[in-house]
Amino acid sequence: MEIAVSYLKSKYTPEETIEKIEKSQADFIHMDLMDGIFVKKKNDDLNYHMNLVRKAIKPLDIHLMMNDPKEAIEILAKIKPKLISIHIEIASVEENLNVIRDLKIETGLAINPETKIEKLQPFLSKIDQVLVMSVHPGEGGQAFLEEVIPKLVWLKNYREENHLHYKIAIDGGINDQTIQKVKSYVDVAISGSYICMNEDFDKQIALLK
Ligand code: DX5
Ligand code: ZN
Repeated sequence: MEIAVSYLKSKYTPEETIEKIEKSQADFIHMDLMDGIFVKKKNDDLNYHMNLVRKAIKPLDIHLMMNDPKEAIEILAKIKPKLISIHIEIASVEENLNVIRDLKIETGLAINPETKIEKLQPFLSKIDQVLVMSVHPGEGGQAFLEEVIPKLVWLKNYREENHLHYKIAIDGGINDQTIQKVKSYVDVAISGSYICMNEDFDKQIALLK
């Protein structure tokens, strides 16, 4: 299992947090961007976030909580992210996945806790990762929602039955307890406050792995 670290909620400044993630055993930096429409919070100053990670060596995984992410995708391509996830709940899923793919960036689809997993079905043979939200998107530090676990089971079975290759990622409320409930289904665990609200990032990452 790989670990992606979200710097959304941290006891350090974003600059310090990125530096600490860079020095850690983390596999990815997870960037959360919100438009104030898809979710209440707004943190989509792209220049600011792009500058934060400009010198980073770790691969970047971007999670766009945005209704209309096309322009952001085109701008963010400049920093060569490894993967960009958009949400299945937005209007133009297919179009935005094509934009990401055409930029030679891996494609991800994120799904909110209340959205039915079957909604993803038409896209599963064409994407690189499914990001299952285990909190309502918008804030770091929320409690893990157990009811999303059946989605992980479904995704793993569906992948096997159909010989597909997408990765399964979980995002929200991941800590040393909740990871136990999901670790046999996920390829990537995204964790924010459990890591970044502590001094020793590697100690927290080791507890997850
Ligand atoms: C929630 C974000 C998550 C969040 C994870 O909207 O997508 O990536 O920052 O943070 P924790 O691990 O604190 O729930
Ligand atoms: Zn996220």
